[in-house]
Amino acid sequence: MSLEVGLAYGISSLFICEALDKTARHILIDPDQFGDTWQGIGLLNLEKAGYKEQIEFYAEPSHVVLPRLRARGLEIDFAFID
Ligand SMILES: C[S@@+](CC[C@H](N)C(=O)[O-])C[C@H]1O[C@@H](n2cnc3c(N)ncnc32)[C@H](O)[C@@H]1O
Repeated sequence: MSLEVGLAYGISSLFICEALDKTARHILIDPDQFGDTWQGIGLLNLEKAGYKEQIEFYAEPSHVVLPRLRARGLEIDFAFID
């Protein structure tokens, strides 16, 4: 399981998903993905590249999502904060 804070255009997410095993999950956290700046472009890029089924997206700040994931007992092998 991998995790990324900050999606924006999804450029780093595309490289991470490319490197992952096809059965692996990649968690993405970004409160502004659907705001005026990014307008969903990161998720659209990932979907177009065929990674839709691999990703789990949270449209909230990382300080809100991370404690919730930890409380769920989630273990992360790799995390990227950008
Ligand atoms: C430099 S951009 C990320 C670039 C991205 N990794 C890429 O390759 O396209 C930073 C991102 O962090 C997001 N961000 C800002 N505050 C955040 C927070 N508290 N939690 C999660 N993401 C946050 C912004 O919305 C923005 O999309």
